[in-house]
Amino acid sequence: MTIDMLQKEFVARFGAGGTLHAFFSPGRVNLIGEHTDYNGGFVFPAAITLGTTIIARKREDGRIRMCATDLPDFVDASFDTMDAYKSLPWGNYQMGIAKALIQSGVPVCGCDLLFHDTTPHGGGLSSSAGIEIATALCLYVLSTGKQPDMREMATIGQKAENEYVGVSCGIMDQFASAMGKKDHAIFLDCKDLSYSLIPLALKDIRIVIANTNKKRSLITSKYNERRTECEKALAALQTVLPDKHYLGQIAPDVFEETRRVIANPTVAKRAEHVIYECDRVLRSAEALQNGDIAAFGTYMNASHDSLRDLYEVTGIELDTLVDAARKEEGCLGSRMTGAGFGGCTVSLVKCECVEAFQKHVAEAYTKVIGYAPSFYVTDAGDGGHQLF
Ligand code: GLA
Repeated sequence: MTIDMLQKEFVARFGAGGTLHAFFSPGRVNLIGEHTDYNGGFVFPAAITLGTTIIARKREDGRIRMCATDLPDFVDASFDTMDAYKSLPWGNYQMGIAKALIQSGVPVCGCDLLFHDTTPHGGGLSSSAGIEIATALCLYVLSTGKQPDMREMATIGQKAENEYVGVSCGIMDQFASAMGKKDHAIFLDCKDLSYSLIPLALKDIRIVIANTNKKRSLITSKYNERRTECEKALAALQTVLPDKHYLGQIAPDVFEETRRVIANPTVAKRAEHVIYECDRVLRSAEALQNGDIAAFGTYMNASHDSLRDLYEVTGIELDTLVDAARKEEGCLGSRMTGAGFGGCTVSLVKCECVEAFQKHVAEAYTKVIGYAPSFYVTDAGDGGHQLF
């Protein structure tokens, strides 16, 4: 849908008059650095060009009314009952953002909002961060008439998801959605949110995302379980490394010297993944800056293998996609991206091989899993911004 069509749709749903504004915020693909963000480690995501567009108009009566182009839901919310919307199947993320903004001192105004999402829902490309950051930006601009610091919008997004929606996610998705830049990946140190934008000079190589199309279940509880295991590993390691506050601060050689203090072998495996994954992110960013895409691809492969064997968040669907991808000519590396347990993989594929890659991987996957994957050939896009 074009912006013109969306404006017409807005008027059809909410009526004419007043000044309309539009905002966009993308989903993300993480190139490498998985399950490291909540461990104060490194991540290396890029914003994609799919995302959430909002057409918005201010209201004077302090209500937030919202709907989406692809859903029948209509939410009419009041600031007097801010916690009443937590269990909404749609609209809870937005109300979590409104609450987090109010708590941070923003005098959030009433508004009518039409949402249009192009990121697949539940597909591991963080459609939720797109919604959160677009909402935060939109409410901030409508309420204050100023542009926000987008890094603050990222932390507002994470707070909403942690405290209102109840998912203990890290900062990666919201940060990538807020801070992405066209043709760049973001090297982010999650312990202090320092970051640099690194050009994705991929020359004749494309980023190919493949969606398992698996219906994910129990993902929140499994995700939170991994977080708890990491906390246990850190507590054990701190008995001999008292100055470390995050697993992401521990170098692989220091870990090898001290890992014996972690009694539970499963917990030790989780820590091993996180610590070596952070090291891979550092090396990958260096490889990219040196134009060594082949090395980048081998780190991606090693990342997936570690998520499969040590962190145990892949599953047959993601492993089948990755195995099929790696057999393809012109594929430099392939791994799961996002939380795992389904969702998407990301592969680096030579331009001239992209078509055959999709065909062969789809055939191999369908044969084993029984239904087809979907593909998105993507570029790195800009982070959240106002369209008008
Ligand atoms: C989800 C979370 C992120 C991050 C990834 C795993 O996408 O929202 O914070 O933890 O999983 O790397």
